[in-house]
Amino acid sequence: MAQSMSFLLALLFLSSSTMAMAALNIVDLGAKPDGRTDSARPFLRAWAAACRTNKPLTIYVPRGRFFLSQVEFLGPCNNKAIKFLIHGTIIAPAGYSSSMNWIRFKYVDGLSIYRGTLDGRGQSLWACKMAGRSCPFGATSLSFSRSKNVLISGLTSINSKFYHISIFGSSNVKIRGVKITAPDASPNTDGIHLQMSSGITVERSTIGTGDDCISMKTGTTNVRIHRVKCGPGHGISIGSLGDAANEAGVQNITVTSVVFTGTDNGLRIKTWAKNNRGFVKGVTFANAVMQNVRNPIIIDQNYCPSGNNCPVQGSGVKISGVSYTNVRGSSATPVAMRFDCSPSNPCSEIGLKDIKLRYRKKRAQAFCKNVRGTTAGFIDPPSCF
Ligand SMILES: *[C@@H]1O[C@H](CO)[C@@H](O)[C@H](O)[C@H]1NC(C)=O
Repeated sequence: MAQSMSFLLALLFLSSSTMAMAALNIVDLGAKPDGRTDSARPFLRAWAAACRTNKPLTIYVPRGRFFLSQVEFLGPCNNKAIKFLIHGTIIAPAGYSSSMNWIRFKYVDGLSIYRGTLDGRGQSLWACKMAGRSCPFGATSLSFSRSKNVLISGLTSINSKFYHISIFGSSNVKIRGVKITAPDASPNTDGIHLQMSSGITVERSTIGTGDDCISMKTGTTNVRIHRVKCGPGHGISIGSLGDAANEAGVQNITVTSVVFTGTDNGLRIKTWAKNNRGFVKGVTFANAVMQNVRNPIIIDQNYCPSGNNCPVQGSGVKISGVSYTNVRGSSATPVAMRFDCSPSNPCSEIGLKDIKLRYRKKRAQAFCKNVRGTTAGFIDPPSCF
């Protein structure tokens, strides 16, 4: 008996050591897939174990609904290959508080997250905001701060309280095959928010929210966005920039093969009309389809969404080297291309090539102010450079 028992144990040991990766199932650590019991402790226990070892390790979340209060997964870790494999749905608290993050990773190097659904349950906070009451900003569903070498693949994120995914102070982050949804009237539910980060890829993803599908703020560099469907939402935006003093610039951004459906904006750059410094340079927009988009191509250096007490200085953010190639489809307003640039820092080296944007199947218009650029191929509406 004792002999066969030790044999069995040895077999188990053998099979787990020959597996490519060890796995920790959060249910084995006490999590309950009942949608009610807080699984923060099991998640943090799994993280602590994964972070301690220097061997690749998978934290497995099986099918079911797991309630999770606010958690922070903190590095630095010994482990450069922690993987979350999620088959279930992770559910946020339904109410709201002043906390800025729901699930946050900080100082992590070498992390991948596969599949899974995050339900931010933003409804009650949106209702508070829409009623014009004073409400907190709300928590970002999934955020990465000061992290690197991160992959997010096949994740679904719904109904965040604030941003769905935020990347701050991080590098080499790949986001692919994600699906992000929130209603078009939900306030501040940006899909993917990038700031002070470099080497970011977003591809093969579908994003429909109440705010920007993707926003790239101060200090975002070396970004590639490819094959993204956006809508509803406010479009793919660089900015807003130039609100705070001395912001870092935005540089080397490539956005290709994107489809916008019913969005407020398509390809947008927005800065405040304040005399701060900053820049946007080296931006390639190519192969975009616009389906009933209010502002398909827009540079707005008088950005001021509230419309109250708007600053009226020339924006100090210099915009240069921005190209638009093969942008087609329909504008929902008569002005399909708008370049409203800074009087003190005109936009320069703006390139247009092969543009065909129509308004109600008729010729649309272009608007130019303080902009210099060149054109090639066919340009409809006719360029105003
Ligand atoms: C621009 O960004 C891409 C990633 O999107 C990167 O591969 C490339 O090296 C960057 N170019 C420069 C000049 O930094």
